[in-house]
Amino acid sequence: MKKIIHYAHLFIQQQLKNNAIFVDFTLGNGHDSAKFFHEVQSLYAFDIQENAIKNTLHNYPFLCNAHLILDSHENIKRYIPNFDAGIFNLGYLPTGDKSITTNVSSTINALNNALDILNPDGIIVVVVYIGHENGKHESEALLEYSATLKSVTVSKFELLNRKNSPYILVFQK
Ligand SMILES: C[S@@+](CC[C@H](N)C(=O)[O-])C[C@H]1O[C@@H](n2cnc3c(N)ncnc32)[C@H](O)[C@@H]1O
Repeated sequence: MKKIIHYAHLFIQQQLKNNAIFVDFTLGNGHDSAKFFHEVQSLYAFDIQENAIKNTLHNYPFLCNAHLILDSHENIKRYIPNFDAGIFNLGYLPTGDKSITTNVSSTINALNNALDILNPDGIIVVVVYIGHENGKHESEALLEYSATLKSVTVSKFELLNRKNSPYILVFQK
């Protein structure tokens, strides 16, 4: 059985250019960054937890050559002027403090800022988890927000035979 993250990576891969600037908006344990690091020209990754950066460097020492940023993804514009592809893998650090999760206001704010500086033909994939209370609120807000967007195409991909399984939103310019 394929997990939703498999499809999230596929959506990104099919759109990735050789010299892409990639942003991992939720570094966590570094798995998503590690997946794309060798396929892009530069990689920026955000997390608000020092532990995420520590875990990532422990799991994938080569990511010391990426820009690992201890700050909220909302502040993306302070670090880069534009980018080509990115991923938000929402929720909490699986091996960490489950009370530290992404949340509605910072996620929407970050997405809004990210879409402003996403290059033409760019892609942002958001993996949304609805199996926990905070995730449900995030999901509702994201769907509502997505429906208001005029200058990007937003699509939704979900697994039909898994109850309460995470789903993907794909934003394309
Ligand atoms: C589900 S985990 C990400 C999994 C990760 N991509 C991986 O491959 O292991 C979500 C992460 O988002 C981080 N996070 C929560 N709020 C954030 C924010 N405002 N800015 C950046 N990261 C945030 C959490 O600290 C957590 O590490």
